[in-house]
Amino acid sequence: MLNRDWRAEFPILARKTYLNSCSLGALSRTALARVAAFHDEWHEYGASAWYELWMGRLAELRERVARLLHARTDEVALTASVSAGLASFASALDYHRRPRVVVADLDFPTLAYAWINRPDVELVRVPSDDGFTIDPARFAAAVDERTALIATSHVCFTTGAIQPLRALAEIAHRNGALLLVDAYQSAGQVPIDVRADDIDVLLTGPLKWLLGGPGLAYIRVRSDLIPRLSPTVTGWFAARGQFEFDITSFEPNADARRFALGTPALPTVHSALGGQELIDELGVPAIRARNRALTAQLLDALAAAGMRVRGPARDDERRSAIVMIEHPDPAHAVAALARQDVIVDSRPGYVRVSPHFYNDARDIECFMNALRAAGT
Ligand SMILES: Cc1ncc(COP(=O)(O)O)c(C=O)c1O
Repeated sequence: MLNRDWRAEFPILARKTYLNSCSLGALSRTALARVAAFHDEWHEYGASAWYELWMGRLAELRERVARLLHARTDEVALTASVSAGLASFASALDYHRRPRVVVADLDFPTLAYAWINRPDVELVRVPSDDGFTIDPARFAAAVDERTALIATSHVCFTTGAIQPLRALAEIAHRNGALLLVDAYQSAGQVPIDVRADDIDVLLTGPLKWLLGGPGLAYIRVRSDLIPRLSPTVTGWFAARGQFEFDITSFEPNADARRFALGTPALPTVHSALGGQELIDELGVPAIRARNRALTAQLLDALAAAGMRVRGPARDDERRSAIVMIEHPDPAHAVAALARQDVIVDSRPGYVRVSPHFYNDARDIECFMNALRAAGT
C-alpha cells in the first residue's frame, strides 16, 4: 500500500487539505497523463483514432469495471450518468403485474426520480428509524408480489451507512422482485461483489471514490436478465448493428450495452481509466482498511472535542469513510475551512468529511484545527 508516494500522485494535496472525495475524487497524475495522451491521439489520428484506439479503451474500461464489481464484462455498459442508466433500465421493465418500486428515504433523489413521474408506477419510500440507515425489516414490510424492484444505495450519500446488500437481495428475491443498487458512494471505497451478494442491477460511476472525474457512469445487469429486458429509452450505442445505420429497425445489443444511449465522453473514459488503474493497483480491501483507520482517527478526535456525528459514534462494520458532523451553520463552516485551504462540504445540518486512501493522519489533525479555528 505504501510502496509508492501516493501524495505526490495527487497534486491538490500539496496545496490543500482535501477531504471531499465523496463529492469529487482527487485528480491523479496518472489520470491526467491518460487524458493528455487522448488529446495527443486526437491531434495525431483525427477520427480514425475511434477505430484504431478509442473503441479499445471503451472495452478496457468495461473490463476493469467488471473486475472491480466481480461481474462479467458483457454485463457492464457505459452510460452518461447514473440518471441516464436508470432511465434506460426503468424503461425496460413491465409494470403491469408489478407496479411497485421501493426506495429508501436516505437514497439519492435521482433514484426515486427515475419512477416518480410515471403514472403506471407506485413509488414507495421506506423510512429510516435512526436517521443513519434503514432497517431491512422496513424493506421486507414494503416488498410484496406486486413489487418490481427494490432500488436503494449501497452507501447512503447523506449518512455514510453501508447497507447489507445480501439481505436486501433475499428480501427482493423471495418476493419475485429485483434488487437494483446505487453504488455511486461505495465503488472504490467499499468492496463490491455482485455475485456473492446476488445483486441484479448495479449503477456507479468514476466521479467520486474511483478518481475518474465527471461525465460518465456504469451499469451492470445480471447476464440472465439481459435478454429479457429491452429498453425503450435507447440510442445507437445500444443497437446490435450499431454501424449498419439501419433506420428501419432496431435490435438491442445482445449484452449489457443495450442499456447505453449515445457517444460516451471520451475525456472521462481516459481519466476514468487512469483513476481505475490506481484503484486496481491498491485493491479496494486495502483502501477500505486505510479509510477505516482515517475515519476512526477522525471520529475519536471529534468525540474528544465534544462534537456529535450522524449515526453511532463507532460502528466500523456499517460505517464508510463519509462522516457527517452536526453543525449549526455548516455552509459558513465549510466556507471558513476553505479559507484555510481545508476542503470539505455540507449537507443541511452537517459538515460532510470524506477521507480517501491518499489522505493521512496530518490531514485529519489539520481539519480538526481548522474546524476549531472556524468556530460556529
Ligand atoms: C449516491 C448517488 N447516486 C447518484 C448520484 C448522481 O449521479 P448522476 O449525476 O451520475 O446521475 C450521486 C451524485 O452525487 C450520488 O451521490
